Amino acid sequence: MHEIRLANLNDFENIKKLNTKAFADNPKFDEDIVEGYASTSQGEKYFKSAIQSKDGCFFVCEENSVLIGYANGRPMDIDYRKSRYFEIVNIGVDPEKRGLGIGKALLDKVSNWAKKNGFQKIYLNCYAKNLGAIEFYKKNGYEVIDVSLEKRI
Ligand SMILES: CC(C)(COP(=O)(O)OP(=O)(O)OC[C@H]1O[C@@H](n2cnc3c(N)ncnc32)[C@H](O)[C@@H]1OP(=O)(O)O)[C@@H](O)C(=O)NCCC(=O)NCCS
Repeated sequence: MHEIRLANLNDFENIKKLNTKAFADNPKFDEDIVEGYASTSQGEKYFKSAIQSKDGCFFVCEENSVLIGYANGRPMDIDYRKSRYFEIVNIGVDPEKRGLGIGKALLDKVSNWAKKNGFQKIYLNCYAKNLGAIEFYKKNGYEVIDVSLEKRI
């Protein structure tokens, strides 16, 4: 049985470990990714600030007091669209616990939190090559609305 709750700073070490485990495939999708980002000083700063942020939310999912998933988001600073947007920045589930609805439960938590806090739409980025995650988002009602491009200069 799993439980989802808001994170606190005591969760940081476990979030860091889970981030490394859950995103182990990222270098396959992005040659430019900083591997082990959560263990770098910038990563630690980012995660601790996201956990403590009052503007956003950071949920963790536990099973028997073991962290098996997390998702966090923040407001988007845009004013060229009509809706108020909330961005899901990061969502990850322990590879051994996938396909059990944990990802969906985390998405729903963030979405409900954002709705209660006056946001009308959720936005998120996903690597084009991360087909599994894209399938997951589509299954949960998300539509592709833009494409990111990059080029080495
Ligand atoms: C994406 C992720 C959060 C989904 O978590 P989850 O707990 O497995 O999600 P759920 O159990 O709620 O949903 C699973 C459904 O999503 C889809 N899905 C998830 N991963 C998939 C994959 N690799 N290939 C195809 N479909 C996939 C399927 O429809 C699956 O349903 P099924 O189990 O009936 O086939 C998880 O796979 C993960 O942590 N991935 C690595 C990190 C990552 O890529 N995060 C997203 C960054 S943009």
